[in-house]
Amino acid sequence: MSERLEDIAIAMVADGKGLLAADESTATIKKRFDTIDLESTADSRRDYREMLFRSQDAMRNNISGVILYDETIRQSAKDGTPFVDIMKADGCIPGIKVDAGAKPLAGYPGETITEGLDGLRERLAEYHGLGARFAKWRGVISISDTLPTWGAVKQNAQALARYAALCQEAGIVPIVEPEVLMDGKPGTHSIERCYEVTELVLKTVFAELYDARVKFEGMILKPNMVIDGQKARKASVDEVAEQTVRVLKATVPAAVPGIAFLSGGQSDEEATAHLSAMNANFTTPWKLTFSYGRALQAAALSAWKGKSENVAAGQRAFTHRAKMNGLAAMGGWKKDLEKAA
Ligand code: 13P
Repeated sequence: MSERLEDIAIAMVADGKGLLAADESTATIKKRFDTIDLESTADSRRDYREMLFRSQDAMRNNISGVILYDETIRQSAKDGTPFVDIMKADGCIPGIKVDAGAKPLAGYPGETITEGLDGLRERLAEYHGLGARFAKWRGVISISDTLPTWGAVKQNAQALARYAALCQEAGIVPIVEPEVLMDGKPGTHSIERCYEVTELVLKTVFAELYDARVKFEGMILKPNMVIDGQKARKASVDEVAEQTVRVLKATVPAAVPGIAFLSGGQSDEEATAHLSAMNANFTTPWKLTFSYGRALQAAALSAWKGKSENVAAGQRAFTHRAKMNGLAAMGGWKKDLEKAA
């Protein structure tokens, strides 16, 4: 495969494909495993990820790349085959989460700054050696009547830009993820408020990316959709699709090859329906696809329940969601297809 950033970015958003976000930190995967009463150990995390990565139909047809966590990019399947080799054999590009998480931002109650810039150049060089060709950094933006503050938006945008420039220097495509929370506190904001905050955040992020000399052709944007808060959800699918495309057209340069959404706590079907409606109803200069964590994995996790006899059921559930989202990336998902399965 080509090593040019532009070509890697284009492959990440190939027709009918999107990204699997399987980069839960050790703390986050423990929370996911708690929901199925499974102890989180290096072996149980390996077994879970092996189940996903060996879902060959999904990986070949609907997944362009996988975002991994530091532990996982170094891990092997039970038979000793490195995970990176398994996904590459199915044409999937390995990626890596490189941020060190969102920490309280000094002087800004209720807001966070994402850490992980110190030593990043050296870590990126190591990850490139381990096979990663793209990376992810998530900046988290609180939303309420009074938040975010300009200071928090600016500082998170600067961190994203410094990260993205270092990635491109290392031959790694940066996924730039400024997430306006839909499931944060209080979670009661309107879709109009989400539009306003998302517009400010994206305008600021692209200004900082430009100042940091990031090449838009060699990056992928991972935004939230424009949607009302999880405790106030009432916007229709068409409304979410329309407002999301509108804010992106107002803020994202056409040189960016692709936009891959996070699911952010939407139900599996909501996340799929919203993406499909955007692709079915609008023409855009960039590809619109998925980079889902929970919306691709929730059904698989609950079908699996940590038991080896359920691996096939977990793989069927994951393969189904991957296929539904692959269709949504082309605007071709229909609700009946969910029932048929
Ligand atoms: P969700 O789709 O579960 O929001 O996760 C995507 C992700 O990678 C968040 O950083």
